Amino acid sequence: MKLRESGMPAQDYWETLFDVPRILDAFGFDAATGDVAELGCGYGTFTVPLAQRIRSRVFALDLDSEMVAATRQRATAAGVRNVEADVRDVLAEGFGVPLGSCDAVLLFNILHGEEPVTLLRRASETVRPGGLVAVIHWRSDIVTPRGPSLAIRPRPAEIAAWAASAGLAADGESFLLPPWHYGHKLRRPG
Ligand SMILES: C[S@@+](CC[C@H](N)C(=O)[O-])C[C@H]1O[C@@H](n2cnc3c(N)ncnc32)[C@H](O)[C@@H]1O
Repeated sequence: MKLRESGMPAQDYWETLFDVPRILDAFGFDAATGDVAELGCGYGTFTVPLAQRIRSRVFALDLDSEMVAATRQRATAAGVRNVEADVRDVLAEGFGVPLGSCDAVLLFNILHGEEPVTLLRRASETVRPGGLVAVIHWRSDIVTPRGPSLAIRPRPAEIAAWAASAGLAADGESFLLPPWHYGHKLRRPG
């Protein structure tokens, strides 16, 4: 099922809304990072820069075949070979990689969808013990140029509560990712 309010504006506009290197730095992704799975890769905005800084694979999953095609094309254009992009309904089917096999999962701009605790559980079972579930979302304490409606936009405290229900531990407080986002580092208990 396509998660609510998960459609995308034009790529050029979308990509003015993030400081991608700063976000990837904030989660500590580097050459030592193992495999990463991403729910809803969209245009590959984070996928390809991430793949360029790690040596392992990025499993980029999206329900929308056009988004998967865009991500594959972008990886090819960048000469990046460690992106495996596939069409998949992650809510219904999970990430499709062996359980506990990834160092990290990305849940970027997606936790406003239905069943956030299910998504967090799926992410938790996908990472190894001690692995990272990296979350970013739109702030709701300021006016933002984009983002889901405020009625379904999760606040940091809600994400923390959902994470606890999914058995994930907070690795520090939520933090700001200017200009429009905040992030959470969540960990599968080791
Ligand atoms: C708001 S976009 C975010 C894209 C990307 N994470 C980013 O931040 O640039 C959400 C993406 O999730 C995808 N999506 C929605 N429901 C999904 C599902 N059930 N399984 C996999 N992908 C899904 C949409 O097609 C869309 O590309």
